[in-house]
This record gives sequence, structure tokens and C-alpha cells, in this order.
Amino acid sequence: MNMTDTTQPDIEAQFSRDTPAFAATEWDNGSWSIQQWLERTAWRTLKNTRYGRPPVETGVIPELFTDPLLRQVYLIDVAVFIGGEKTSFEAVAGLLRCAPDEASQIYLGTQVMDECRHYEVFCRRMADLGVPPAKRETLVKRYTTPAVRNFYDLILEQVDKGDFIAGSLAQNIVMEGMAYPLYRYEIKYWSRIDPSLSQIIRGAFADEAHHVGFGEAMIRGHLQGLDADRRGRLRALLEQFSGLMTEAFEQVINHYIGLYQECANQYMAVMGDVEIFPGRKMASVTEEDQVRLLLAEIRQEHAARAARIGIA
Ligand SMILES: [Fe+2]
Ligand SMILES: [Fe+2]
Repeated sequence: MNMTDTTQPDIEAQFSRDTPAFAATEWDNGSWSIQQWLERTAWRTLKNTRYGRPPVETGVIPELFTDPLLRQVYLIDVAVFIGGEKTSFEAVAGLLRCAPDEASQIYLGTQVMDECRHYEVFCRRMADLGVPPAKRETLVKRYTTPAVRNFYDLILEQVDKGDFIAGSLAQNIVMEGMAYPLYRYEIKYWSRIDPSLSQIIRGAFADEAHHVGFGEAMIRGHLQGLDADRRGRLRALLEQFSGLMTEAFEQVINHYIGLYQECANQYMAVMGDVEIFPGRKMASVTEEDQVRLLLAEIRQEHAARAARIGIA
């Protein structure tokens, strides 16, 4: 047969590309598959990166390697990220096991991968700064305040109970809904000191935004079928998270804000004109006010999402 014969059957037309691979779910609009993950994350956001940063780094200020105060503040932030990411991958891996349908399980597979990757890139960054694994563990423990520990434990408790809805609400609405305004802030915060760290965080931020989007789409449907009693208990759980979050932010202010302010004052010439919040330059907002503004942003995000999923 002539290979250029146009009368041969179109093989592509023989495939049933529209036949779903997994049972249809009301929330699944086709954005949550591993194929989509490859196209969105591996082949796009992370293309030409190494551990989430440019293969060859430029723009890091030399003081990061010579000023103990700047190094300490930097390591506190990265330690906090690492603690959160570890909780996230453990929680999501547990949720995958008890998810009620294949589409959720497959999406959660990509989320486990994302959270493990976030953990890896931040651990890698610590190592880049000369912090070996044992020392990193010590730092993560030291900078995980009691309120933050309780916050993480409350998430893991829902997962350990095998309560998919409470666990997803805790991880994919509360935790993710906190991570992504936090990362949005941190991207700006470190942009002049270490643009590579900002890029690493930006990669995680893009994923967290997606995780919270999935959480919202998926949980909304599940909540609709619940009775008033169960909804009331989930609402009480959200309250508990909200209390722990406020406590966690207060503990940061009480323990570390002096350190952050001292460091910021020293580098104001470098970072003072960063627009840390819309219309607000870093030089015009104290570190304490930044933490309070960030908490207010997270609260607004949480409230808006709770309303959208129908549990406000
Ligand atoms: Fe993450
Ligand atoms: Fe996430």
C-alpha cells in the first residue's frame, strides 16, 4: 500500500478519546488528572529548573553567607516551610487511602508528589546553606511553636481517623488556604535577598493554589449531602483551627518579631521598596503589622472559601 494513500482509515478517529477512564464525579472538570499535572507543573512551571530554582543562580546578596542574623531569619522561615510541607505530604498520603473515588485518589497522588517535592526543595535549600539533615531536623523542631504543632496534629488526627471529609477540609481548605497567602507574601519578602528562594516558593505557591482549588471543588459536593449535626461538627473543627492559627501567629510575634525587625532594619535599603502588600511598601509597615496583615488575609481567604463550599 502506498504510505501516502489518503484513503487509509484515520486511526486516531478509531480511538474513543471521550470515553471516561474513571467514574464521573460532579466536581471533576478534567483539570485534576496526572496528565494535566504533567502539562501544568512538570513541563511548564518547573521546566528548566533544578530543585525549583534556576540551574545557575544570580542575585543572592553576599550577606546571606556572612551575616548570622540574616541567616537565622532565613533559616527560621525555611524551617517553618519544611514543617508545613512534611505535615502536608503525610496528611495527603493518608487521605489518598480513604478517598471515596478514583478521580480523587489520582489527584491526591499528584498532590502527594507536589508536597514531597516542596519538602525536598526546602530541605535542599537548607543544605545549600550548609545545614546538614540532623541540624535541619533540630531547626524544624525548634521553630515549630506549640500552637503550630497542635495545628498540624489536629490535621493528622482527622486523617488518622479515616475521616475523608474532615481530613480534606483540614488539609485542602485550612492548611492550603493558609499556605498560599503565606507563600505569596514570602515570595515578595525574599525577592531582593534571594531571588532563587522566591522562585522556589513561587513553584510551591502555584501548586498550593491548585490544591485549594481542588479542595473547594471536591468538598463542596460532599458537604451538600451531610446532615445538620455533622455540618455543625465540621464547623466547630474549623473554629478550632482558627483559634490555633491565631495562637500560632501570636507566638511568632511574641518570640521572633524582634529578630525579624532588627534584620529588616538592617536591609531596608535593599528591600524597603518591595510592595509587600498591595499599595504598602515594606519600609512603611513594621514586621509585626506585616504578620497581622497576613493573618487578616488568611482569615478573609478562609471565610470566602467556607462560604463558597457552603459551611460558613
Ligand atoms: Fe506544599
Ligand atoms: Fe499543598
